[in-house]
Amino acid sequence: MPLLKEVYYGMVKSIKIHRLHNLYLKGHARFIQVYRERMDRQIKLGPRDSRWKLGTTRWERIGEMQFRFLVQHGLKPEHTLLDIGCGTLRGGIRFIRYLHPGNYTGIDISPEAIKIAKQSVKEEGLDELRPRLLLTMDSQLKELSGETFDFLLTYSVFSHLPPEEIEEIFQNIGKIMGEGSVFFFTFKPSDKLKRDKGRKVRFNFRYPFSYFQGLAREHGLDIELLEPPSCPQLPGKEENGQGD
Ligand SMILES: C[S@@+](CC[C@H](N)C(=O)[O-])C[C@H]1O[C@@H](n2cnc3c(N)ncnc32)[C@H](O)[C@@H]1O
Repeated sequence: MPLLKEVYYGMVKSIKIHRLHNLYLKGHARFIQVYRERMDRQIKLGPRDSRWKLGTTRWERIGEMQFRFLVQHGLKPEHTLLDIGCGTLRGGIRFIRYLHPGNYTGIDISPEAIKIAKQSVKEEGLDELRPRLLLTMDSQLKELSGETFDFLLTYSVFSHLPPEEIEEIFQNIGKIMGEGSVFFFTFKPSDKLKRDKGRKVRFNFRYPFSYFQGLAREHGLDIELLEPPSCPQLPGKEENGQGD
């Protein structure tokens, strides 16, 4: 019986995504809507897709890498951090534990991600650290208007977004940065923009660093290319699960 329900659910979801795909390809829906549906579905199917399985070793290692990287770059407990595309708190859970109460904000377009993130905060007993977990419908960051953050992060977000969404983030990020704020982002490098075209919507994008330099220049931001961190080993844990 539960299996039947799952199959039925999967079918309904696929039809919905398929429809959204077509609307996007015809220019009647935004990429972010298709991506939201995809994320929600992936997270709901979590047990079958180990990338989203909380607690897999790979997942833990990438979370730890994000955490160590920002600490190495000066993140202190008294700083405020905005985690754009926080997902199910792979890095977020560590940041919440480390930062002073109220200093972590995570924002995501996926209701399922935010739901799981809130559950994890509860399960880990971190409610009193008052993380803010916000759902957004687009890349305009308007939920945060009037605030500034010391550190801002998009980890494994730009590698899944087309230029129009990244450009929207760059248009708005400066408004929530103060004099000393730093925005860290990851991207998959390439000599030129690589965006698969065809009858299917693709969710992987590669950009040359010069693309981000151009955006930074346009919006009056300084930009620097950093060495990518290595992914730490976590002792005593068997490797399972993958992720980027
Ligand atoms: C590959 S996941 C990475 C999640 C998290 N940063 C991590 O390391 O586990 C990308 C996340 O970005 C979210 N996302 C994509 N575009 C976004 C946007 N414009 N604003 C907020 N979240 C976004 C997706 O819903 C998804 O949860």
